[in-house]
Amino acid sequence: MKKITVSSLLKMKAERQKIAALTAYDASFAKLFDEQNIDVLLIGDSLGMVLKGEDSTLGVTIAEIAYHTQCVSNGVERAFVIADMPFMSYANEQQAYESASQLMRAGASMVKVEGGEWLLSTISGLVERSVPVCGHLGLTPQSVNVLGGFKVQGRSDEQADALLKAALALQAAGVQLLVLECVPSSLAKQISAALQIPVIGIGAGVDTDGQILVMHDMLGISANYMPKFSKNFLTQTGDIRSAVSSYIEDVKSNTFPGSEHWFN
Ligand code: KIV
Repeated sequence: MKKITVSSLLKMKAERQKIAALTAYDASFAKLFDEQNIDVLLIGDSLGMVLKGEDSTLGVTIAEIAYHTQCVSNGVERAFVIADMPFMSYANEQQAYESASQLMRAGASMVKVEGGEWLLSTISGLVERSVPVCGHLGLTPQSVNVLGGFKVQGRSDEQADALLKAALALQAAGVQLLVLECVPSSLAKQISAALQIPVIGIGAGVDTDGQILVMHDMLGISANYMPKFSKNFLTQTGDIRSAVSSYIEDVKSNTFPGSEHWFN
């Protein structure tokens, strides 16, 4: 069993092997996902919605993410662990360094930040200080109040150009992975082809370098509703281990997501 690293993820992109990722928040699920050979686990600030029952991710604190990162790290041997920097925990560079150090000390191998050009110097500062960074573009849930809801992004030519430009700028600033959420599948394909770093999609079609789902959505146990881009793998398999391995297999074989799960 070989531990997944940033270099393994880059190699997977080069060899056109899809990356399968899930969110996780505790040691037991992390261990179960790890045993099924999930490549990446994200301690997402989605925990505000799926664990705390809130209607956005804005109430999540750095202490909560650090606690859950420690729990997940305790359950993992193989998967690459990324921790989300929550809302307002990287509003300036000094704050970003302090937040990232808490998450790396809790066991993360990379931190994730939401946003484009305004983050470039923060990202290069983190990378210079040995913190690997994952970007997040498209629907960035921490900006829900600015975006006017959880809406598909990048549908106009102007928005699509801006997203491509932002993705290239993030890569140049040093991000080593990019999450692309809820954008038209053709745009996700274009961005994934333009970048050297792996692009992990959610609601972004089948042509990204990998897929991520919120674990509660993948198991069909989310308290609120099932997003169009997600799929309940538990109903078709009947037990959690098989649901996870079926998700991984479907991602690796390009069977998930199907066209019913993506946006045009
Ligand atoms: O918070 C989260 O779980 C995420 C994923 C949906 C990518 O950012």
